Amino acid sequence: MVSKTIQTASPYLEGVYQPVLEEITARDLTVMGEIPRDLNGLFAHNGANPRFPPGAGHSWFDGDGMVHGIELNDGDAIFRSRFIKTQGLAEDLKAGEATYVGSLAMPGQGKRHKNVANTDLVYHSGKFLALWWEGGTPHELTLPDLETRGTFDYQNTLTGGLTSHSKLDPRTGELFFISWAPKPPFLNIGVASEDGRITRFSEVPLPGPRVQHDMALSDRYIGVFDFPLMMDFKRPDQKALGFVLDDETPARIALVDRKDESAAIKWFDIKPCFMWHISSAWDEGYEFVLVGARLDGATRHTKSGAILDDLPLVDGEHRFDSHPYMWRLNTRTGAVTERQLDDSFVEFPRVNDHHICSGARYSYMARIDINQPTLEAQGIYKYDLATGSRTDLKLPMHHIASEMSFAPRDGAKREDDGYLIGFVTDKQRMTSEFWITPADSIEDGPVARIKLPQRVPPKFHGRWVDAEAFRTA
Ligand SMILES: [Fe+2]
Repeated sequence: MVSKTIQTASPYLEGVYQPVLEEITARDLTVMGEIPRDLNGLFAHNGANPRFPPGAGHSWFDGDGMVHGIELNDGDAIFRSRFIKTQGLAEDLKAGEATYVGSLAMPGQGKRHKNVANTDLVYHSGKFLALWWEGGTPHELTLPDLETRGTFDYQNTLTGGLTSHSKLDPRTGELFFISWAPKPPFLNIGVASEDGRITRFSEVPLPGPRVQHDMALSDRYIGVFDFPLMMDFKRPDQKALGFVLDDETPARIALVDRKDESAAIKWFDIKPCFMWHISSAWDEGYEFVLVGARLDGATRHTKSGAILDDLPLVDGEHRFDSHPYMWRLNTRTGAVTERQLDDSFVEFPRVNDHHICSGARYSYMARIDINQPTLEAQGIYKYDLATGSRTDLKLPMHHIASEMSFAPRDGAKREDDGYLIGFVTDKQRMTSEFWITPADSIEDGPVARIKLPQRVPPKFHGRWVDAEAFRTA
């Protein structure tokens, strides 16, 4: 039987997180400042927005996918909000209630694994695709209207789930992704060609099931992780699924050769940790360099019995006290060096996507205040990895942001020749804006603040698509 419990106690269903049910298209928006005319395209941000009060075991990560988009054209803006019309949402709409349970529901509590397509977006093979963290068939959205066209299975060549945080090599047009499962094979890597077919799908052997989320890509390697984070079925009087970090097992990074499928996978032991999100990776001589937001301990529970509840948690489980961090893996000697880049708390790191695998100098990370009860960006840091310096996009009091993306301006010449873009919400007024901030001087603040007719709940991951990708179609 499906539980109909409404978990109103969840901070991720209340306040600014309250779902918005109306789909809107709005023009003639009020703008403070001026929208740059050299920024033309569409930004969409994906996130969780439960259409109905959720069932048992609901997590923030389980809500129905909704994209909020801003289309920019020669200084004008159009705002759109659209549910992603998944099969699971259609089932709920037919029933008039949530018919699935969440990812923290115990086995037997109801129908699960609803591909909500709520996590990430990628523009690949001429299609704008919404991806899901658990891994499923991508959902294609139209541009610029953001309507759901249906699922896209890469011309029937996708044989496993395609997880969010796939990495697109801008030079080859190939999309690299992971596919993970609680049963063997626990982890596969996949490659999709620019013409929309899966060209590689191969196992990376792991000693057991692992919760996966992100991956890395350089010009030579696909980087995947063996972080010993797993579902926890063994708590006393357990009423909901949890996660446990096996802090007695080393964390490892695997480097898989991009071109030579027969090459042995290179494994590197690193200090115990977990990482939801990487920033970027690149090759430097024989070194594979990786930057991301690293956690000492990912969860409240560890296998050795520690209960780490001194910090706020997402859904009572996930810690978010991450720091910016760099690993250097020597692919010749096997040596590993690693270091924390800053003692600030950060999440949702992003770079200029054109530099995702070839050496991004600048990383834009959401600044997190761990004294807040939920994972919210209190501002954005721009890290210059070449100099170690940091600049800060500050938000007015009571305002929060989500991840912010980089969008190159037309004719951009430098890596940071463009804008940092994203939604900002006033928690007191419960109103949202879209901010456009020159990326080479974020400390000076935005040049445009577009007032929106609808609150935008804090979201997961966004993507900028240049106008030529859809206006010439
Ligand atoms: Fe993510």
